[in-house]
Amino acid sequence: MTDSANNASVCFHDYAPEQGDFLSDVMQGFSNQQKSISPKYFYDQRGSELFDEICRQPEYYPTRTEISILQSNAEDIARLIGPDCVLIELGSGVSEKIRLLFDVLSPASYLGVDISKDFLLLSTKRLARDYPELEVHAVCADFCHQLELPAQCQSDRLVAFFPGSSIGNFEPDDAVRFLKEVATMVGRGGKLLIGVDLKKDSDILNSAYNDAAGVTADFNLNILQRMQQELDVNIDMSSFNHRAFYNEELGRVEMHLVSQCEQVVVVEGEEIPLIANETIHTENSYKYHLGEFADLSALAGFRVEQIWTDAQKLFSVQCLVVG
Ligand SMILES: C[S@@+](CC[C@H](N)C(=O)[O-])C[C@H]1O[C@@H](n2cnc3c(N)ncnc32)[C@H](O)[C@@H]1O
Repeated sequence: MTDSANNASVCFHDYAPEQGDFLSDVMQGFSNQQKSISPKYFYDQRGSELFDEICRQPEYYPTRTEISILQSNAEDIARLIGPDCVLIELGSGVSEKIRLLFDVLSPASYLGVDISKDFLLLSTKRLARDYPELEVHAVCADFCHQLELPAQCQSDRLVAFFPGSSIGNFEPDDAVRFLKEVATMVGRGGKLLIGVDLKKDSDILNSAYNDAAGVTADFNLNILQRMQQELDVNIDMSSFNHRAFYNEELGRVEMHLVSQCEQVVVVEGEEIPLIANETIHTENSYKYHLGEFADLSALAGFRVEQIWTDAQKLFSVQCLVVG
């Protein structure tokens, strides 16, 4: 980051999860028949950087498609949302997509929420530097828990922005629970602008999550590196491989780490045996038909106000309203 961004003013609120949560979630996930780790643990500083790199891979259509939808429809989106809102971006990452809307939207203030603390600080400071008139807040928190809004962000004009199809990382029931929380947060008449990835040819999906440069593989494997760095874990990273595939029946891309051999992983002194080819399930990315997502939103109290898609109907950006 340049010095100018370093000096930019961001109101920072830290509710970052405790280290103990990581350990207990790993122990819990490893005790299941299908071993798993929550995808939220992908995002340490290195994981956030790798995700940013994934977004630039030619096979990874979601980012460039969502950006082009936002660019082509920015005026329309701004008309629906209206000026002077408090814009809350959930899982804000690099906070790049929101820049496409700032000029047309003229929000009163911006709040970025992300679990990856240093990355969040860096991204929001860059925003504050580039938009000096804008009041910028950052909350480091797990958005699966009820969000404590800073007092300065309380408003009857709250609009949530949840891009990147991160909604697909939730099991559908959990997605409804999450959207209900968002609906409560923005209140009656409040809006959610959300990126939702659509069902499509499985070849497109399989190549998007298996880029030729191996960046998604590095991203997946980095979760083991993070365990090594932050927990008392003995794990041989080189004995795991990345696997990602579209599960047609369940309508989701699954990511796994595959043990190449029979081995024992030691976590805080506890021995966890893995047989050859056993997998640790690290992520689901559910894909939706437009109708399926409308039904899911309705269960959470949202009505679909407008949908924008690309010509190939790969991805959608949707404006949902409470009530
Ligand atoms: C798929 S990336 C999307 C990033 C960006 N919004 C975009 O559209 O390119 C998911 C983002 O959500 C954040 N994230 C993942 N799980 C989270 C959680 N449980 N609570 C808060 N942030 C989370 C990650 O750190 C990451 O920045």
